[in-house]
Amino acid sequence: MAKPIAIVTGGSRGIGQAIVGELSQTHQVLGTYNTNRKAADEVAAATGAVMLPCQLDNPSSREEFLHEVQARFSPVHLLINNAGIAPRQRCDILEASPESFDELMATNLKGPYFLTQRIARSMLDEGMGRIVFVSSISSFTASINRGDYCMAKAALSMAVKLFAARLAPHNIPVFEIQPGIIRTDMIAAVAADYDRRISEGLLPQRRMGEPFDVASAVRAIADGHLDYCTGQVLHVDGGFHLRTL
Ligand SMILES: NC(=O)c1ccc[n+]([C@@H]2O[C@H](COP(=O)([O-])OP(=O)(O)OC[C@H]3O[C@@H](n4cnc5c(N)ncnc54)[C@H](OP(=O)(O)O)[C@@H]3O)[C@@H](O)[C@H]2O)c1
Repeated sequence: MAKPIAIVTGGSRGIGQAIVGELSQTHQVLGTYNTNRKAADEVAAATGAVMLPCQLDNPSSREEFLHEVQARFSPVHLLINNAGIAPRQRCDILEASPESFDELMATNLKGPYFLTQRIARSMLDEGMGRIVFVSSISSFTASINRGDYCMAKAALSMAVKLFAARLAPHNIPVFEIQPGIIRTDMIAAVAADYDRRISEGLLPQRRMGEPFDVASAVRAIADGHLDYCTGQVLHVDGGFHLRTL
């Protein structure tokens, strides 16, 4: 039997790469990348995934990608909205630029929102599917040196609730994964500082997260173990979200 089809955005590096590796064991994976063709080719060679470009912040690139999906990768059983960016520069909210705001909203919110809208419609036609959004602890944590990132992720959390409510009657559960601090290129510049703060107690579980921690949560969803939990938030954060006294 043909394997079910999974789309993983931002599959060329970091968390997305780990998700592509995990899902390739059970799914035909279609991964996307932004500009890093070399990394994408390496992931394809290692996993058997098909890797296509899709600039999430660019509507015509999204459209081209969706055309390919419809022509060659239907029906989609699983959509993992993983791709995202940090601000090019961490900048105090009293100084942050409109350009950075627009870039973060277009890539981290508008892109996944409208991509999901289209894939969800095709899932409705099929009467099945599962959808995951990778947000962040930043959706509830105020970091005043990257407010645009926090606001985009907070809005993405609401997108999860909206899609979950809309699709619940149609057998299509929607999930949010909130990673904490995960060792990838995205945090490379501040990794040493995070390692120090984690060793001093920043996280209840005293290690930084790894991409496979997020991929493992995706596995539970992909296998259907959480199908009655639509709208659920999975905190993959070493306990960061816990309030302690
Ligand atoms: N790392 C963390 O600590 C952490 C914590 C919480 C949440 N997250 C979230 O987890 C997700 C993955 O993060 P990561 O740490 O794995 O990041 P990463 O290592 O920087 O990888 C980012 C991925 O997104 C793709 N991408 C970048 N800009 C894009 C665009 N405009 N359109 C489409 N794809 C684009 C990249 O493609 P190229 O390779 O072509 O550039 C790459 O595949 C993001 O949504 C991030 O916000 C990360």
